[in-house]
Amino acid sequence: MELPTKLGDRIGHSCLGAAAGQTLVADSTTVLLYKLMRAAVAAHAERTEILIEETNFPTDRFVAEGVAAERGLTLRWLASDPVNGVTPSDVAAAVSEDTALVVLSHVDYRSGALADMAAITDAVHKVGALMLWDLCHSVGVIPVQLDACGVDLAVGCTYKYLNGGPGSPAFAYMNARHHGMLPQPIQGWMGAGDVFAMGSAYAPADGIRQFISGTPPVLGMLAMQGMLDLIEAAGIDEVRTKSVSLTELVVRAFDEELAPLGVRLLSPRDAALRGGHVTIGHERAADVTRTLWADGVIPDFRFPDGIRLGLSPLSTSHAEALKGVRAVRDALLTAAE
Ligand SMILES: Cc1ncc(COP(=O)(O)O)c(C=O)c1O
Repeated sequence: MELPTKLGDRIGHSCLGAAAGQTLVADSTTVLLYKLMRAAVAAHAERTEILIEETNFPTDRFVAEGVAAERGLTLRWLASDPVNGVTPSDVAAAVSEDTALVVLSHVDYRSGALADMAAITDAVHKVGALMLWDLCHSVGVIPVQLDACGVDLAVGCTYKYLNGGPGSPAFAYMNARHHGMLPQPIQGWMGAGDVFAMGSAYAPADGIRQFISGTPPVLGMLAMQGMLDLIEAAGIDEVRTKSVSLTELVVRAFDEELAPLGVRLLSPRDAALRGGHVTIGHERAADVTRTLWADGVIPDFRFPDGIRLGLSPLSTSHAEALKGVRAVRDALLTAAE
C-alpha cells in the first residue's frame, strides 16, 4: 500500500531533484498525463488555452486534445526547431494571460533535444500558467531539478532508463504548493483518505496520494527497484557523465562512418543540448532497421526516416555503442549493393 509513494520518493530523490511527498508511482504515462492535465485546467477554470508542442509525443498531444475538447478549451500548437527543440523564447512568445497549462517534453523523443527547464518554467510562470513536463526520456539518464526549477507538474515512464521492463508503471510529480488545490479527476478507492472505510462518499487522501485511483501495480514496482539501486550506487551525475561520453562517441563515429554515406544527424551536436539518445536520418532507415533487428541489433525506427540509438549508460558499454553505429554502416552498405 505504501510502495507507490515510497518508490515515488526514491525516484524523486535519486533522479528528479524532488523532496519527499510529491512523487507517486501509478498507472501509465498516458493516464497520469490525463489526470494532471485535467486537474491543472480545472484549477485554472478562468483560462482558455493549453499550449503544447506540435511535435510532442503523440500520447501527450492526444490527451491534450481530449482534455481541451472536454473542457471547451483552445489547444494552441507550438512550433520548434526539429533538431534543437523548443527554446525559452519560443515559449515566451506563445503564452499569454489566457494560457492555463503548458505541456512539453524535457528531452524530445525523436531528436533528443534537451529543453531549458528552468528558463521555460519561468516564462510560463510569468503569465501565471502551470507547467507540466514529460520526463520519459530524462528520468534516470540526466539529473532533473524539479523543485529548484519550481516546476508545477511532471510525468514520466519507467521503462526507458529506469529499465522497469515493458508496461512498468509511470510516475507523477506535483509540487507540494498545489496539493489539495488541483482536483484528481479519476477518484478511486485507493486515493481515498481511509481506503478500507468503504465510506459512502469520496474523501481524498492528503497530498500526492490522492492521485492514486485503483490498486497499485506492485509487481512492476518491485522489478524497478534493482535499477534504482544501480542509479543510487553510481549517482545520477555520474550516469549523465557516462551518457554524454556515449553520445559523444556515437556522434564522432557518425561523422567518420555514417556521414560519408549520406546519413544526417537529427540530434543536437552540442552535448549540453542533448539528452541520452542520438537520432540519425536516412531515406532507407526503415529497411536498415529491419536488417538490424534481424541481426539482433535493436534501435528504434522513428517515422519517417529516423533511427534512434538509445544508450542506457549503466547497461551499454562504449564498445557496444560503436558496434551499433558500425552495424548501421554495414546494413547501409549491404542495402546499397
Ligand atoms: C515522451 C513519451 N511520453 C509518453 C509516452 C507514453 O507512455 P505510456 O505508454 O506509459 O502511456 C511515451 C512512450 O514511449 C513517451 O516516449
